[in-house]
Amino acid sequence: MRHVITVHDFPVEKIIEVLDHAEEMLPVARGEATSDLLRGKILACIFYEPSTRTRLSFETAMQRLGGGVIGFAGAEATSVVKGETLADTIRMVSGYADAVVLRHPREGAARLATEFSGVPILNAGDGAGQHPTQTLLDLFTIRKETGRLEGLTISLVGDLRYGRTVHSLAIALSKFGNTINLVSPEGLEMPSEVVSYLKGKGLLGKACHSPEEVISGTDILYATRIQKERFPDLVEYERVAGLYRVDPALLSQGPESMIVMHPLPRVNEIASEVDEMPQAKYFQQAFNGVPVRMALLSMLMGGK
Ligand code: NCD
Repeated sequence: MRHVITVHDFPVEKIIEVLDHAEEMLPVARGEATSDLLRGKILACIFYEPSTRTRLSFETAMQRLGGGVIGFAGAEATSVVKGETLADTIRMVSGYADAVVLRHPREGAARLATEFSGVPILNAGDGAGQHPTQTLLDLFTIRKETGRLEGLTISLVGDLRYGRTVHSLAIALSKFGNTINLVSPEGLEMPSEVVSYLKGKGLLGKACHSPEEVISGTDILYATRIQKERFPDLVEYERVAGLYRVDPALLSQGPESMIVMHPLPRVNEIASEVDEMPQAKYFQQAFNGVPVRMALLSMLMGGK
């Protein structure tokens, strides 16, 4: 494994290897055991877009393994404002660190960065493109909570057009033979490449505009935020904001064993009453970013 750019880089066996390795990392991730696996290594986290979980869980993962972290959160205080290109920044940062985690507003930025980097690049979100490390922690959560990775029906609900987490997740889930329902407001449908990919594998369930249409047959309800920052026109955003809300009334229409996931941050698409319900797995999901990113970092930096 050299870089982590899209989920296409991960055949099924590789995904399982990461998840199994993450499982072994759990005691260290929880702070119950210590590790020096990456002592002397440095991770650069360079974030050109806002982030809470992704950046902090990468930093925690690196430090739990005994390594160090450099980087920036927001390019305002860097030479980017002086006009430095991504290519030059990457050339230089890859000389300072042993791996680089990059989040950037432009789709394709992580792939581009690999051309200028002497060290592994991990894509932490490239615009409305992909978010492969989020997908691995989503799969880890699914396996932990349901005991399996195959034969499930997952309903992806929300902004399927601009939401990068669902682009990666839909593709990864289809590798395991799961059925995927697509629920979005009109105009925010899943990109046609992903829909064709699912159709080609015979795994596209229902594509519709209302969660009520799919809820009774759903094992996993994966809600997403409407990606306000990607809308060219805010009037369009206002039209769809608040259209869906996962609340106890909606959950009562689903199977008792159904779980609710969300990459977070949520705005108002999940009612706070749901947080206390047994179906709610999104905070556990956010924690799972630590062991999964520990597994990835140790595999990429040769500690394992
Ligand atoms: C997501 C992202 O940045 O794509 N957040 C995350 O990494 N957990 C989802 C979002 O911002 O809505």
